[in-house]
Amino acid sequence: MMSTNALRARFVEYFERHKHRFVASSSLVPASDPTLLFTNAGMVPFKDVFLGGDKRDYSRAVSSQRCVRAGGKHNDLENVGYTARHHTFFEMLGNFSFGDYFKRDAIHFAWEFLTVELGLPKDKLWVTVYEEDEEAERIWLDEIGVSENTFSRIGAKDNFWQMGDTGPCGPCSEIFYDHGDHIAGGPPGTPEEDGDRFVEIWNLVFMQYDRQPDGTMVDLPRPSIDTGMGLERIAAVMQGTHDNYGIDVFQTLIAAAADAVGIDAAKAEPAQQSSLKVVADHIRATAFLITDGVMPSNEGRGYVLRRIMRRAIRHGHKLGATGTFFYKLVGPLVELMGEAFPELADSKAQIERVVEQEEQRFALTLAQGLRILEDAIGAMSGTEIPGETVFKLYDTYGFPVDLTNDVARERGLTLDTRGFDAEMSAQRERARAASQFGADYHAKIDVQSPTEFIGYTQTRGSGRVVSLVQDEQPVDRLSSRRRGRAGARLHAVLR
Ligand code: ALA
Repeated sequence: MMSTNALRARFVEYFERHKHRFVASSSLVPASDPTLLFTNAGMVPFKDVFLGGDKRDYSRAVSSQRCVRAGGKHNDLENVGYTARHHTFFEMLGNFSFGDYFKRDAIHFAWEFLTVELGLPKDKLWVTVYEEDEEAERIWLDEIGVSENTFSRIGAKDNFWQMGDTGPCGPCSEIFYDHGDHIAGGPPGTPEEDGDRFVEIWNLVFMQYDRQPDGTMVDLPRPSIDTGMGLERIAAVMQGTHDNYGIDVFQTLIAAAADAVGIDAAKAEPAQQSSLKVVADHIRATAFLITDGVMPSNEGRGYVLRRIMRRAIRHGHKLGATGTFFYKLVGPLVELMGEAFPELADSKAQIERVVEQEEQRFALTLAQGLRILEDAIGAMSGTEIPGETVFKLYDTYGFPVDLTNDVARERGLTLDTRGFDAEMSAQRERARAASQFGADYHAKIDVQSPTEFIGYTQTRGSGRVVSLVQDEQPVDRLSSRRRGRAGARLHAVLR
């Protein structure tokens, strides 16, 4: 059996042999892209290379990029634990060409890697192309010899890849693996395509355009290649399981999670299995986000991390954990992935500390909150949990809404999200009215032009200092050491 670590190494070696430069995975916090919450694809660190603004001393690259899809546009958080292949954290294997090779080589490389290097049977693979891309179609059918019976032409919805509303994009060609007719699902392009039988394993994007804010497509300086193969999915294929959670990495983490909460994984009931998957998935996102400098908090990236952590902690509680347990998974994770990601191993002690602290903090309110929720459910006549309860859990007991929703889903209930939103707006209004800072800020500091809060998406920014205010008076210098002025309020207004 090929381990996930061996598979990652095999991919990198194959492309190095074909003159690609290995580029280590970059951070989950995109360095210079305010349009993105987390790195969610292998091409993210190369966005400016595709656009022509960033020049590198290589024109072919290979990477295994750590990615998180939670909280932003691609949000898989609530599906984790209930499907065979949703994750908050995953690795994307990719080979890239920056104006070097294009469609022909990209297709030949992919086919050779799958069928020769990995030895996958050709008749288990299904290929799709963008319906207007005759060039790619000819390469697949005439040069590679793929059969018309395992080939389909698909529209822009699935076979035109774009990073976001703007940025590099192009038609794509996808390779699927057929896990066999004992699993429900149909080939791509059919109404049954969402089943688990045909799983997309590799997406080859023929990067050609830069999409503008007004929707027009401008040609990239040079046609390029961006590909993405989910490491966990291809590991599942190689390890003979159709469920990503059946692969070595997750089996080890699931066993560690069972150990940490004191149950036997082999005897877990279906609901417990879901909870174990949630914990095993979430420790990876948690540990890597902390490695990359994100801390649990109430805003932006930190809040997404907190939601992931609290969801895992709640599932651990459900499995029977009585004290802190989640931090105990950091060690096994570092053993599994620390060699491929040395930065993870270096942060081990810090991750354990942050995770245990968050567990302790949440433990204070988790049990109480769950009791409130049980009481509310017991008192309900319909199937909708009142917005007021959802808000109280959020505001007083630190239950992110998706956590309450997770509980609701287990019971076949829904949330009154409109009621929650109304409570939230009322709360904001009260906070605004009560905010000393807000009142002073607007009354005493004359800000002439609109200001923008960028802290949800960026951790750095630049601006020009336009005025300095101390104790509501304009000053030339700011100091916190003015004698006899304890608690002086300092403001620098940036523009
Ligand atoms: N960037 C492409 C994707 O994320 C490969 O699917």
